[in-house]
Amino acid sequence: MCGIIGYIGGKKTTDVLLEGLYALEYRGYDSAGVAICDNKDIEIIKSVGRVSLLEEKINKESKIKSNYGIAHTRWATNGEANLTNAHPHKIGKVTLVHNGIIENSDLLKEKLIKEGYKFNSDTDSEVVAALLDKYLKDNDVLKAINLLIKDLKGSYALGIMIDNDNKLYALRKDSPLLLGIGEKENFLASDITAIIKHTNKYILLEPKEIAVLEEDKYEIFKDGNKIEKEVLISDSKGIDNSKNGYSHHMMKEIMEEPIVLKRLIDRFSDEKERKNLDLSNYKEIDIVACGSAMYAGLVGQNLFEEYAGIKTTVYPASEYRYKKKIYNQKTLVILVSQSGETADTIAAMREAIELNVDTLAIVNNPDSTIAREAGKIILTNAGVEIAVATTKAYILQVCVFAMMAFTTGKNKGLIKEDFSLFNEVPNKLKLVLEKQDEYKELAKKIYKKESCFFIGRGIDYALCMEGSLKLKEVSYLHSEAYQAGELKHGTISLVEEGMPVICIISDKELKDKSISNLKETEARGSLGIIVTTEDLDDFDNYLKIVVPSSSKYTDSMLIVPALQLLSYYVALNRGCDIDKPRNLAKSVTVE
Ligand code: AGP
Repeated sequence: MCGIIGYIGGKKTTDVLLEGLYALEYRGYDSAGVAICDNKDIEIIKSVGRVSLLEEKINKESKIKSNYGIAHTRWATNGEANLTNAHPHKIGKVTLVHNGIIENSDLLKEKLIKEGYKFNSDTDSEVVAALLDKYLKDNDVLKAINLLIKDLKGSYALGIMIDNDNKLYALRKDSPLLLGIGEKENFLASDITAIIKHTNKYILLEPKEIAVLEEDKYEIFKDGNKIEKEVLISDSKGIDNSKNGYSHHMMKEIMEEPIVLKRLIDRFSDEKERKNLDLSNYKEIDIVACGSAMYAGLVGQNLFEEYAGIKTTVYPASEYRYKKKIYNQKTLVILVSQSGETADTIAAMREAIELNVDTLAIVNNPDSTIAREAGKIILTNAGVEIAVATTKAYILQVCVFAMMAFTTGKNKGLIKEDFSLFNEVPNKLKLVLEKQDEYKELAKKIYKKESCFFIGRGIDYALCMEGSLKLKEVSYLHSEAYQAGELKHGTISLVEEGMPVICIISDKELKDKSISNLKETEARGSLGIIVTTEDLDDFDNYLKIVVPSSSKYTDSMLIVPALQLLSYYVALNRGCDIDKPRNLAKSVTVE
């Protein structure tokens, strides 16, 4: 998923575009580029890698005084991350930036080559530029764009400039793009945070709508007719880019967990608010998400089945959207997403809505597609996450699931405890986060390893999934999460001398079973590491992480932050780019 920003107005174009790119860099940072125009010449400057390298190049090379332009920060989908494939792309009279995947680009490219077009890059985006250039030969811009829309299959958000035309054009399908409406200036952006410093007024474009932006006006067309669209007001405060003294956003965001967790729990300490968490009417729940959000869903599945008595299944959104759906009238589909813009999760949500099934989203970004379209939403309000690896948002997703399971179980008469048991968790989490030296020491013992395992049973397996993913994505240390009882059915062949096997034990009933499985690996030379709660800790001669005891509903929210910090320190020791790990992006808005 890439970031797009466009500007037309009286400010210094490159300042506005670069500021927007920095705000959008979380969407991808393989390469970046700008195209600016002074109503005569179009200047294109691109760089591989971070936006800061592009800024250096612009300061050195830019010659023109422009009053409009488009810019892009790329997460490579078609074609490797190099200068040729960096956006913007210019073919003929068309210069554009693109976020999305054009699924029929090979076919279109073949036809265009036969018509004499030559291509420099391996991207599908350059094909879009050539196709529009072709249609411009016999049509005005709007007609040409409508012909383009008819040909494109797949997803796109496009910012377009046409030679000697002095306007910006914008259109989208399945990739996010909005218009920012200013005073004698207008914007286009992948998300509001890129332009919130300039305006909080925005318009959401829908498929087939074409926006035409000039300095002092904007028009939107659909099927050749001018249409009016509602101007929305965002209350986004923009992105707090400061690290507040921490060396990485990831650490800052982990250290914010007690505060944002307390805020969430306090919100639902109000009985009225808690009514929104009661799922007693449902007989079956499908939890649909991607990555860490899905692993939060795995925790939810365990809690719903164990304590609320509701059959629950977790699906990766990328599978769910294509699978045969079997619903009974009392099914709820819960979507989980930090960004609210994950393409697969949006598609799965829209499928469920199409099939008239109740949807509820647990989402962090209030200005997102999922927040706008889901039947019901529970906002986690973790605040913006700058670090690509999610931490505080994941913890709040788990907390929402725990409060949902608790509230539903209580209302069904299955639970005796009082909701106030949640209130102790934020302070206990502070104790977990204070043990930084312990995580540093443990990280020293594993950061040079080639590979490691996380093993656990029941809900602990769900925690293993997230613990393993966090370690992999920030430190590039290969890791696998395995149901503890499953390992011996084949994969134990991978266990080698000194390989760390991290065993998570928070369930008293399953403690001895998990320990036996850990010992099976130690018998083959593994380095056994235990992650457990104080009440279960009788492991004297083990490397271990011990978190305060709390409750079976809330142990997860204390265990995973410890694993987040362990991953952080392993990544630090391995010299990784902790806030922007290689190959990743914060919001995956493509399939
Ligand atoms: C980032 O740390 C996560 N590992 C990533 O898997 C993320 O959870 C996934 O891409 C879903 O993103 P979303 O929550 O914004 O939908």
